[in-house]
Amino acid sequence: MKLIESPEWQALSAHAENLRDRHLRDLFAADPERFSRFSLRSDGLLLDFSKQRIDRETQRLLLALAEAADVDGWKQRMLAGDPINHTEGRAVRHMALRAGEQAPPEVRAVLARLKSFCDSVHRGTWRGFSGDRITDVVNIGIGGSDLGPRMAARALVAQQQPDLAVHFVANVDSADIAPLLARLNPRTTLFIVASKTFTTLETLTNARTARDWLLAAAGNAEAVSRHFVALSTNLEKTAEFGIPAANVFEFWDWVGGRFSLWSAIGLSLALAIGWRQFERLLAGAQAMDRHFVSAPAAENLPLTLALLCLWNTDFLGADTAAVLPYSQSLALLPAYLQQLEMESNGKQVGRDGQSLDTATCPILWGEAGTNGQHSFYQLIHQGGRVIPCDFIALHEADFPLGNHHTALLANCLAQSAALAFGQTAEEARRTGVSEAMVPFKTFPGNQPSTTLVLPRLDSYTLGQLLALYEHKVFCLGALWNLNSFDQWGVELGKQLAGQLAPVLEGKADGAAFDSSTRGLVAALLHR
Ligand code: F6P
Repeated sequence: MKLIESPEWQALSAHAENLRDRHLRDLFAADPERFSRFSLRSDGLLLDFSKQRIDRETQRLLLALAEAADVDGWKQRMLAGDPINHTEGRAVRHMALRAGEQAPPEVRAVLARLKSFCDSVHRGTWRGFSGDRITDVVNIGIGGSDLGPRMAARALVAQQQPDLAVHFVANVDSADIAPLLARLNPRTTLFIVASKTFTTLETLTNARTARDWLLAAAGNAEAVSRHFVALSTNLEKTAEFGIPAANVFEFWDWVGGRFSLWSAIGLSLALAIGWRQFERLLAGAQAMDRHFVSAPAAENLPLTLALLCLWNTDFLGADTAAVLPYSQSLALLPAYLQQLEMESNGKQVGRDGQSLDTATCPILWGEAGTNGQHSFYQLIHQGGRVIPCDFIALHEADFPLGNHHTALLANCLAQSAALAFGQTAEEARRTGVSEAMVPFKTFPGNQPSTTLVLPRLDSYTLGQLLALYEHKVFCLGALWNLNSFDQWGVELGKQLAGQLAPVLEGKADGAAFDSSTRGLVAALLHR
């Protein structure tokens, strides 16, 4: 039986009908204990979901649905190493990467090699072809081989190691790598080629360009071994590229690209923040893993986030969700979560290959606060759509300065309150506005939001935060009964790009393409 046909889903549908007309104002008025009832604390984190459009019955029914969907059973299968990524025949074991002493020997061996490599770069014992120390590191990767370390290095900028700048290149557009190379010195630059498959067009194109740039200065192919390291599961391809085995840090097919920050893919981050801090990141994620595995369903933070997302998406009709970190350091978090959530759960067929009858992953977007307030918040307040928001706030500032942090927090709290409670026409009138202006000064409110408070932004709490969202994604996949760990939808475009490149280079004709594509090719070739 499909979950949508289950009594638990049907009960939620009926309940949603009843709750549809209840405003968050009424829900708060009816229950003075609402904040304590609908908030959770764990290991320094506070998750306030009292501004979600739920009541106690919603919570009870959602937990019943999680049981009916066997979320716990799927969790056990993942932990047991079953190939739950069934379309690729792979296990899903990213938790093993941050399991500390319990990590498998191969994981610990690679971590030990990464640590000693980091130390040698930081101490200056790793030298370039001319004997100079490394001053710049360039991570060349895309998607999961870029977004995680890039976002985390930005988030942890307060812990940046001195004397070593870490850069990220992802796009095959030469506008990404060219200006960077123009200001770097080949004698002091180290390239990290990060690619799980080592077949990704963007990454290999950039890596070849970087290699040519290096060789033009070094004049000797030997220089590659001093300036290139690879992070990959494909040791054959890294050797083919000319990177010696000693410079390759391996990971495994059971690490999904978007879950790979904790693997060798984290090397650029470890270089940016130092090994000790990288270990703290792993420890934070491990702490969240323990919570996810052992906390009862009603107190489980990732499951709670997942159930709220499902409720908003499938029962309140939200088709997007905003993530709004009130932290400039977390500015890249929305981009990171876009891959994590949408590449994982943006699926229209279930595990059995049958069409799903429910909406799945909402379109995720967002921006650091307060900046977003001055661009798109207008639409969240008065645009007439249901847009659930995740606010993220830090108790302590990572760069304490005057009254900046209180102003930031005041805005965060003000926005979630304004979105929840709005302003009625009557209240607008009471502010003294003219009758003609009342419709413009009315805010419907009732916009659902969750606020997550971190004690501070550091390696440990970032690890907790990212693992929280990883497990949310897992729970949603289990609830929707889809495979969160494949990404077949990205393949068709890659294939077509492979066929179009020779057409644009004038080496093949594009007769097989549609008239629009042929017309565009002609315009691009002949102007
Ligand atoms: O195109 C999507 C994708 O396959 C992502 O899933 C992955 O993170 C990214 O490309 C990069 O892949 P790789 O690490 O193999 O270069």
